[in-house]
Amino acid sequence: MKKIGIVTSGGDAPGMNAAIRAITRVAHSKRLKVLGFERGWQGLMTNEFKLMTPRSVGGILELGGTVLYTVRSPDFRTKEGVRKAVETLDVNKVEGLVVIGGDGSFSGAYELSKETDTLIAGVPASIDNDVFGTDETVGFDTAINTAVTEIDKIRDTAISHERIFIIEVMGRKRGFLALVAGMTAGAEVILVPEIGFVKEDIFRTIEENDAKGKKSSIIVAAEGVGDNRKLAREIEEHTGSEVRLSVLGYAQRGGSPTARSRLLACLFGNKAVEQLLEGKGGRIVGLQRGKIATISLEKSCKIKKPLDLSLLQLARVLAT
Ligand code: F6P
Repeated sequence: MKKIGIVTSGGDAPGMNAAIRAITRVAHSKRLKVLGFERGWQGLMTNEFKLMTPRSVGGILELGGTVLYTVRSPDFRTKEGVRKAVETLDVNKVEGLVVIGGDGSFSGAYELSKETDTLIAGVPASIDNDVFGTDETVGFDTAINTAVTEIDKIRDTAISHERIFIIEVMGRKRGFLALVAGMTAGAEVILVPEIGFVKEDIFRTIEENDAKGKKSSIIVAAEGVGDNRKLAREIEEHTGSEVRLSVLGYAQRGGSPTARSRLLACLFGNKAVEQLLEGKGGRIVGLQRGKIATISLEKSCKIKKPLDLSLLQLARVLAT
């Protein structure tokens, strides 16, 4: 193998740059040339890349976002899009491709892997942590820390005003971010899309808290649970408490990666290059029970990662 490519695709996540740096430097140490395709799948379809060298990736370890840029590209979902990407890989004699991204990116990578001889390795990076085959994605820890920092601040004002706050966190249709951020910020209620919720249970919790002298409560709600603005109105009407909604939004995607996100990026990046050099394609790397491991891209795409719902129960006990 002489040349590999890197692409960052889908929503950016803190630590993607640390992964780009790791892949580039490990690859160079093995005498591989590295092409960085720009703007996700779009760069692969339009043949836009830059040469990555150990020096060109200097100073990016601590940066959020991705220096390769990223876009969501619906065109890549077409047969024609995949054909163009295969052509780019062939024209440039790219023998291995590392895809850094989340579950959507891996679905794209899986489709591409069926049409090309180029070996593909996935590095899971997403704030949603919803990739099957890894206990944790690059960027998840940073996003949790960002969310918890903000929730702590909001709690100050919630206590002072004796208000109820619904704090909406990202995660698309999954509740990993809400569950861990909620638990570690001591939220009184955590709402995740995996099990939905009964409004009356929330009313009861708030009323019980009020009766025992806890006049403010924090509800951490995943964006995927539904209309949180409407829920805020309903809680206010039912309990008579003042309720505010705070949507944390895109701040959760940015910022300097934590040491934990950087570490995963380094280890995953190294393993991805190793996989390619061993001639193994169609696999993603990940953390499984504390060890760096791999599973097939196909399996990762087809199996839904389970959320540990027992943690919700524990979070409830801890927040009494
Ligand atoms: O997948 C990461 C994520 O930030 C989700 O949590 C969120 O629902 C989505 O991306 C937002 O997507 P976009 O960047 O396209 O608005």
